[in-house]
Amino acid sequence: MTTTLVTGGTGALGVPTVARLKANGNENGNDVRPLSRSSGGGNVVGDLVTGAGISAALDGADTVVHLASGQNHSDVAATERLLEESRRAGVSHFVLISIVGIDGVPLPYYRDKVTIEKLTVDAGLPYTILRATQFHNFVTRLFTAQRFSPVIVAPSFAVQPVAVEEVADRLVELATADPAGRVADIGGPEALTVPDMARAWKRATGSRRAVMPFRLPGRIFAAYRAGNGLVDGPANGKQSYEQYLSARYGATTAR
Ligand SMILES: NC(=O)c1ccc[n+]([C@@H]2O[C@H](COP(=O)([O-])OP(=O)(O)OC[C@H]3O[C@@H](n4cnc5c(N)ncnc54)[C@H](OP(=O)(O)O)[C@@H]3O)[C@@H](O)[C@H]2O)c1
Repeated sequence: MTTTLVTGGTGALGVPTVARLKANGNENGNDVRPLSRSSGGGNVVGDLVTGAGISAALDGADTVVHLASGQNHSDVAATERLLEESRRAGVSHFVLISIVGIDGVPLPYYRDKVTIEKLTVDAGLPYTILRATQFHNFVTRLFTAQRFSPVIVAPSFAVQPVAVEEVADRLVELATADPAGRVADIGGPEALTVPDMARAWKRATGSRRAVMPFRLPGRIFAAYRAGNGLVDGPANGKQSYEQYLSARYGATTAR
């Protein structure tokens, strides 16, 4: 019997990851604990920022899958706490999700991720780190958030969106295998510009608003334009953005 604590188990990536770990666990008699600040739905209650409930949540845990992410630069301290408590609890595998391009795009959130990866490597726990590109549903939120805008603004650079379910599949594969260190990145099957994604989203949703591509000066934009957010090597993800849109909106997105 293996016990797995999944931080961020209620989030966009956490929900499919927990579902897959549970399906896997039912076959093998394993225990899966989704961590959340709220009770309900079989969650184990704990807060990585205050530390409340974390030690109890880790009691008897063999594996930790760390997906939680919060606001206000709290993730570094939260991860430090989780690693410390995991060591104390005798965790034998710490699995971390990270983001493709964090060392090539100077965003503050990415700098924190670089620190979190380093903390994980240096913690003295057997670990696995998987970097993923942006999820299809994350990029789509850029467009749905603009529902009151007369146009859809979209930054002129390419991303390589991936299906969140495929990232969850890979995480389960990694969490149920031996610790592997930093593994190959996962990204979707194609690099697409955000304006092209916005046009595909328009076709899928029937939106009539114009897409307005934009460029900004500065290092962050330049880094994305240089392709620093793309997977360097085989991408692993199979579902295209068009397939995601068809599944989500039930419409053909063909031109
Ligand atoms: N979104 C993307 O495109 C993308 C791409 C690559 C990697 N990632 C990484 O994947 C991870 C998951 O992303 P996501 O989009 O699934 O996140 P999300 O939907 O925003 O979910 C965030 C999760 O973090 C938990 N959380 C936040 N603060 C917490 C705290 N103080 N204590 C305990 N739990 C806390 C939340 O739990 P409750 O609210 O239930 O407490 C929630 O389950 C993140 O590390 C992110 O950086 C994301």
